[in-house]
Amino acid sequence: MLKKNTKKNTLDQKRIEILLEREPELLEQFLKEINNIQKPKIDAIAVTQGPGLEPALWVGLNFAKALATYWNLPLIPVNHMEGHILSVLLPENAKSKKIQVKFPAVSLLVSGGHTELVLIKDWMKYKKIGETRDDAAGEAFDKVARMLELPYPGGPQISKLAATFQGENPYKLPRPMIHTNDFAFSFSGLKTAVLYLLRDIGKPDEKMKIAIAKEFEDAVIDTLSYKTMRAIKKFKAKSLIVGGGVSANRALRARLENEVSKEKDLTLYFPTPSLSTDNSIMIGIAGYFRAQKKLNKKIPPNLTAQGNLTL
Ligand code: KG4
Ligand code: ZN
Repeated sequence: MLKKNTKKNTLDQKRIEILLEREPELLEQFLKEINNIQKPKIDAIAVTQGPGLEPALWVGLNFAKALATYWNLPLIPVNHMEGHILSVLLPENAKSKKIQVKFPAVSLLVSGGHTELVLIKDWMKYKKIGETRDDAAGEAFDKVARMLELPYPGGPQISKLAATFQGENPYKLPRPMIHTNDFAFSFSGLKTAVLYLLRDIGKPDEKMKIAIAKEFEDAVIDTLSYKTMRAIKKFKAKSLIVGGGVSANRALRARLENEVSKEKDLTLYFPTPSLSTDNSIMIGIAGYFRAQKKLNKKIPPNLTAQGNLTL
């Protein structure tokens, strides 16, 4: 029960019960705990609207609506991918200088659900210029890791194995679509190539796993960096912003750092490693940016989860 039986509280409780009617356990916890939580000193609540799996998005959205109702705060819907882009704005060291990104910028977004290149003419002005036709890069990392019997999430596991590789790699995997005249990606064929390789060589020992992990990682990085640098040249970008879980990959970071160092007037921005994978801070930053534009005290009435939300 919400505290004090005022008219407003009874109304709020009714609203919250409706918002969380499909999540009875969450509703029970909410009503039980909320009175013990002090309202934080915040001006608004930011919440992910999409893209992603809708049932999961709905839970977060309804919970945020309930909180915003209870604390009487505005609710700001955020695009998850914008969160990844803006995550680069939070410096590792709070004392470091304000980050000033020059435009146009190209953003490479690589996560478990997305692999896309976005042209950014100014903050919040996005144009998707290419994306994967099938699997996302992170998804390919996860699937190949499963084939190698590595635990989930597979990206960090493959990366750890690949970093121990030494010598000449006996395996050669394809770089799908690397030379196509566009900014599209494809990782499904690469994943299948690993499957066929494993079928041919049988159960791999540790050394073979390391070599496959390294060759797979190289194939993904070659494609990502090649197409990204192509986009940078075509659109005369002054900044490259990399975000999404796969941007935590050290070899990808090193490759892009090397590529960018060869260009004049091009600056590379990565989130700090802890902000590369999904986190609430990046959603907060994106909410902050959106709130500069308009802050509506009321919860947008038709706010729905959008699995396919694009930038
Ligand atoms: O952005 P994210 O945390 O969640 C989604 O929005 O999907 O990205 C998760 C993906 C997973 O596929 C995970 O395997 C991959 O990021 N990932 C990595 C690394 N760390 C996380 N992939 C390659 N190397 C890494 N170090
Ligand atoms: Zn993500």
